[in-house]
Amino acid sequence: MGGEGALSMDTEPLYQAIFKRKSVRNFKPEGLGAKELEQVMAMAKEAVPLFPDIRTSFKLVGSEDVRGIFKVTAPHYLAIYSEAKEGHMANAGFLLQQMDLYLSSKGLGSCWQGGPKPTRGMREHEGLQFVIMLAFGMADEPVHRGSMSEFKREPLGKMTVVHGREDLLAAARLAPSGMHNQPWYFTGADGCVEVHASKSVDVANMNQISAGIALCHLRLAGLHQGKRWTWCATRGGQRAPQRAMCTSPRRASQPETVAALRFSQSLSGPASWAIRPP
Ligand SMILES: Cc1cc2nc3c(=O)[nH]c(=O)nc-3n(C[C@H](O)[C@H](O)[C@H](O)COP(=O)(O)O)c2cc1C
Repeated sequence: MGGEGALSMDTEPLYQAIFKRKSVRNFKPEGLGAKELEQVMAMAKEAVPLFPDIRTSFKLVGSEDVRGIFKVTAPHYLAIYSEAKEGHMANAGFLLQQMDLYLSSKGLGSCWQGGPKPTRGMREHEGLQFVIMLAFGMADEPVHRGSMSEFKREPLGKMTVVHGREDLLAAARLAPSGMHNQPWYFTGADGCVEVHASKSVDVANMNQISAGIALCHLRLAGLHQGKRWTWCATRGGQRAPQRAMCTSPRRASQPETVAALRFSQSLSGPASWAIRPP
């Protein structure tokens, strides 16, 4: 079980960025200054983990040390390293998405990089294994979407059986995902949202990372609603209900439960739930 006490990272600008962020793939060649990079790393240190027992670390990597398919050329890359433990991919997605939103909120461009890897010699850091990274820097294209209609996402009804919690789930729906496959499915009861991900076909387990990103958006939406929240201690092990397996072919076959967020009642009003009967 985890929880949330005093927050040091201001989460409201991150929440607002959910509704306008986009992947940026064109960057100005000049990099950020040392002070700005220091600020980015200071923020990374303040990012809140999904599973606090998993040790992680961030590192800045230059373009010359990044290789691989779907590489976006940028002056900087923010890589996350982790110990290999159950839930570590979702945890990495959850942490790094806070940085994606932070950079967007500051008017900087960023793009998730699931294909590229750091060169040999950069794949370990502080005894932890490289997981994934974000390309970032000054954008040479608009950083934000002009309107919500520019989000290309499946309708919420295809992602959940939960009814009446659009305030939380609308934010999760807008999460970016590897290959844009939107591999998540949401269930819930009694103030608890469970997030499930389709089994990844790739060895990198990208769907778990994407589910961690959706969990990050859920948490920010919960904080925005003023709910106090605690984690349900679900990670792995459980299977999503049958109906989650047949929503779309892309989301087919044996989804895995990634984690669940429990939102307790806010001080200002009841957190009422309505779950559609199965
Ligand atoms: C885990 C993950 C890996 C990704 N890998 C790449 C990549 O290697 N190259 C790339 O250009 N975009 C990559 N993306 C960006 C997605 O294609 C993009 O998020 C998705 O198409 C939705 O678009 P949006 O971010 O503009 O909302 C990745 C996104 C995620 C979440």
